[in-house]
Amino acid sequence: MAALDERRGGHVVRTAELASGLAGRVEERFRRLGLPPEEPVGGVVLASRAYLAGILHDSHRDGAGLTPDYPLDEIEGRHTGKLQHAALAAQFAYDRGLRDRGVLFAVRYHTVGHPAPTPLLCALMLADAVEPGRTYDGVEELRKAALEDPIAALVERLKSTTGFVADQGLEVHPYALAQIETLEWALEGS
Ligand SMILES: [Fe+2]
Ligand SMILES: [Fe+2]
Repeated sequence: MAALDERRGGHVVRTAELASGLAGRVEERFRRLGLPPEEPVGGVVLASRAYLAGILHDSHRDGAGLTPDYPLDEIEGRHTGKLQHAALAAQFAYDRGLRDRGVLFAVRYHTVGHPAPTPLLCALMLADAVEPGRTYDGVEELRKAALEDPIAALVERLKSTTGFVADQGLEVHPYALAQIETLEWALEGS
């Protein structure tokens, strides 16, 4: 994998471990919220798939190149430094024969989110945000909230990151806002 230095290697492994631990609870929460379950892959448990998504997600943080099967959208194209690595990682895995659509989807959209989020995407995004190496203000509270309700915690996190981006006068990706809307709608209806 490209440029997996020790620091980043630590982050991907911690994210993989946490995503793996969260995946079942996230899927159960999805079920109770009436959101669609993860599409199963025969013989592979969800926790393993979440682990793989975690290992892959930031494997190409410093990469560049073409992603013919995972084209960048307009906003991603303008912010390749921050956003391209998701498509690069999905392309890398696809090119090596991975055909688990749920894992590829989570890896592809872990940066900007998606209007139709899946349990694997949510588990990965939440683990990415609260893995034990994260030290930003409020992370402890978010970790506690994640234990109570992983989906509500993820919504909180997405609101604060999109709010931060907007406050800086930067573009907020519409998928991030749509993901918040989808999950909040489900939470309000529960
Ligand atoms: Fe990432
Ligand atoms: Fe990450």
